[in-house]
Order: sequence, then C-alpha cells, then structure tokens
Amino acid sequence: MPEIWAKSATEADPEGGPGAAKASVDLHLDLPPGPGTRVRRDLEAALRDAVRTGRLGPGTRLPSSRALAADLGLARNTVAEVYSQLVAEGWLTARTGSGTSVAERRAADLPRGAEPQNLPRPPRSGGTHPPGPPLDLRPGVPDLSAFPAGAWLATARKVLASAPRQLLDYPDPRGLPQLRAVLAGYLARARGVAADPGRIVICAGFAHGLAVTCAALRSAGAATLAVEAYGHQAHRDLAQAQGLRLRPLPVDGSGAVIGDAAGADAALLTPAHQFPLGVTLHPQRRREAARWGGVVIEDDYDGEFRYDRQPVGALQALAPDHVVYAGTASKSLAPTLRLGWLVVPPRLLDAVAAQLTAGPSGLDQLTLAEFIDSGGYDRQIRRARLAYRRRRDRLAAAVARQGRHVTGIAAGLHAVLDVPRVRTERQLITRAAGHGLALQGLESFRAPGAGADRAGLVIGYGRPPEHAYTTALARLCAVLDS
Ligand SMILES: Cc1ncc(COP(=O)(O)O)c(C=O)c1O
Repeated sequence: MPEIWAKSATEADPEGGPGAAKASVDLHLDLPPGPGTRVRRDLEAALRDAVRTGRLGPGTRLPSSRALAADLGLARNTVAEVYSQLVAEGWLTARTGSGTSVAERRAADLPRGAEPQNLPRPPRSGGTHPPGPPLDLRPGVPDLSAFPAGAWLATARKVLASAPRQLLDYPDPRGLPQLRAVLAGYLARARGVAADPGRIVICAGFAHGLAVTCAALRSAGAATLAVEAYGHQAHRDLAQAQGLRLRPLPVDGSGAVIGDAAGADAALLTPAHQFPLGVTLHPQRRREAARWGGVVIEDDYDGEFRYDRQPVGALQALAPDHVVYAGTASKSLAPTLRLGWLVVPPRLLDAVAAQLTAGPSGLDQLTLAEFIDSGGYDRQIRRARLAYRRRRDRLAAAVARQGRHVTGIAAGLHAVLDVPRVRTERQLITRAAGHGLALQGLESFRAPGAGADRAGLVIGYGRPPEHAYTTALARLCAVLDS
C-alpha cells in the first residue's frame, strides 16, 4: 500500500471555521493504489484503522474535508461522506466551528466492528498485582505532573512574541548569552557557584555535559576517571565511550573516599547528595577534593532540594579552577527539556567548547532564561521542595511504623532503605512487581569492580503524581511487610 501524506490546508477554511485553520494536521493514511470505485470504502477503512491502532489519538483534529480531498485528489463530497459515516459510527466527532476530531473514547466504548485485540494495551508488570495502574518508585525522575505547564507556556509565548527572528537561527554552541548571564546570577545566588557567563556552557542535560567534558579531558590527555562506587551505569558508559578508564571510589558515611583517586586524572562526584546513597560529602573530604589537583566533575543534579537547615553549596566555589560544575533542569523542571549547564575552569574552556555541536533549542534556552529572571523558576523550586519534603516525611514515617528506617534523606528526591543481603533486595523487587510497583535496588547502581558492601532499595519518592503517592506508599509497605 502506498503511503500518502495528506497535509491539510493552512489557510482559513470556511468549513471548519477559524479554529480549523489553526489545527491543520498532517495525516498519514495507507490507501490502496490507483483510482477506483472503492475509494470511499478504502478511505473509511484507512481512517478507522488509524483510530483503532491509536495512531490518531482521541481529540486529534482532522483536516477539513476540503483540504483532505485536495491532498488526496478526491471529490470533496467523498471525504465529507466518509467523515459523516465515521461520526455516525462513533469514531469521529464533528462540532460546528471546530471541525472534525477523533472521538474521545475508551477501549470499552469502541464501536462495533473494532477488533479489541489490535488495541494498544497498557503495560503490565506481570504477577498478581491488585487492580489499578502500575506505580513507580524508582529514582531519577521528578513528579512530571508538577511541571509548571501554565507558567512555562506563558513564558515561552512571551519570549517568542518579543524575540528577534534571529533567535530561530542555529544557536551559539556555547549557549545563548542571555541564559548564560541569567544562570551566572542564579548559580551564584542559589548554589554559591563562582560563575561568570563566559565560563558557562549550555548543554542538553547533564548526560550531554558529561560526555562533552569527558571528551575534552581525553583530548587534553586524561586517561582515568575516578567514579563513585555507586552511580548511574549510563554515566559510566558515557565516560568510557570517550575513552576514559574508570576507577571506582568507595563511598562511606562521609561520602566518596577521595584519597583513593590518587593517580586518576579526573573524578566524577555528587558532593551535595551522593547518588544514590544520599550522603553529603564531609567538609574534610570537600577540602581534600578541592586540593586534590585533578579535575573534579561536580554533578549537582538535585542541589536545590535540600531539607535540613544546613545548606550545602557547590564544591566548585572552593576550587573554581579545578572543578567543572554541572547542573540540570531535569529534576527542577523536567528531563525532556534537555537543558543543563556547565561552569568550566578557564584552562578547559576551549577544549570543552571544541566538543560542542548541537545544543538545546534556542527557544527553550531563552524561555528558561526568562523563567529564571521573572522569578518563576524560584517559585517552582520552593513549591516542589515543600511537596517533596512532605513526601519524604511520609515515607520515613511509613517505614518507621514497620520498625525500619531510610537514609540519605537530607536532600533530593530519593532515599535508601538498607536490607541485609543482595538476595533480599532482589526478592523485594520481584515481589513489588507482583504488587504493581516498580522498585530499584542498589545493585543496579554499583560500578563494576566495586565491592558489594551494601544492599538496599533506592526509593524515588518524587516520581509518582501526587494523587498516586498514597497508594504507592501502601504498596511499598505491603511488599516490605510480606
Ligand atoms: C545522579 C544524576 N545526575 C544527573 C541527572 C540528570 O541527568 P540529565 O540532566 O542528563 O537528565 C540525574 C537524573 O536522573 C541523576 O540522577
């Protein structure tokens, strides 16, 4: 079957009213080749199929019959009749002034003739979990339902309306000057970073910043990167992909044992809130790290979310000529933005800049700059900090009722619940899956070659939407209890 892209007209269409012109869509339909008398039936079938398989989701606006007819080379009446038929069958809805859309239906309401086995199904975690959607307490992602969509949208609209069209050109690979200037002020104020716009580089999230930094270090002759014994495998993979050899550093109650980094060229650390163990790097170790001499990559992924009364500033302030400070909007706003930033020591700046190609969209960069400048970012952080702190307290109280306790909770969006053995950790994760709850254990964060000194669950209490948190906690307690 040939694939046909039907791109509806963008000029105002009298049929759909002014709204229809705004909602112009590209429609991809599988139609049999050639002209024929069955064209109406084929179009009906193609549209039904697109709705049934979920390719055209509920609420999707369709092109006006005139536009679709023009795109497909059909009589307008044919398309109008097809739309009427599918409206009558319940697949589509037609409303004066807003044109024709895919009906808002649930699987159970499907019109007759649909084959339910072809419908996309929600993912199942298997086992015998109770009714209700699967829940997720794995770390790494904030509550996406708390994203300040209205404020972000208003800011983006303002930015787009007032920015020169030059903004739509390829952005400066180091990042837009406006965002670098605003970030310099914000990072100095909120994180104590010694920041200068000229040393700031915008990247597509921390992962991109890490890859760029590792590539720059490698190009400058570095061979070995010390990494904390527990961390993201994806980050270790990124460093290795740039040709760096890894050396795991033990993490104890005072944070990473920086003394063991002797001989390495650089070290990747999470000083404010070790990921995933949650310890804060002890002041003595901070001083050691600052004096160490190698390059420290400081991953300050959740530095804004600190709950105790002892704010821990960036390590970078102690040694701005040795520390590459890295921040991200993935926890404070949303990972999909792919917005992150580096503050780079002058001696590494050219090497890092040489690695930069395509960064985040200039529109998103300018929106973030305006969001920070207008106070929207700070408001969001304060709101989120309060909400996450409450969740943390509820988690701590819930496990305390079972005689357990969580650690690493002075900051961030996750906590660690130690268990005696790796085998117990695995059993709990499997059991949780049977209860419709996704959990992750320390084992999945341990660096290859690091000793298995601890076992436990890393509970990401930030991830579920607010309305699901109570159920997620109840399932967690049931799993721990059983
Ligand atoms: C330790 C750590 N660093 C950094 C990040 C953020 O990464 P990115 O900015 O690439 O989304 C996360 C988020 O999951 C994290 O857990």
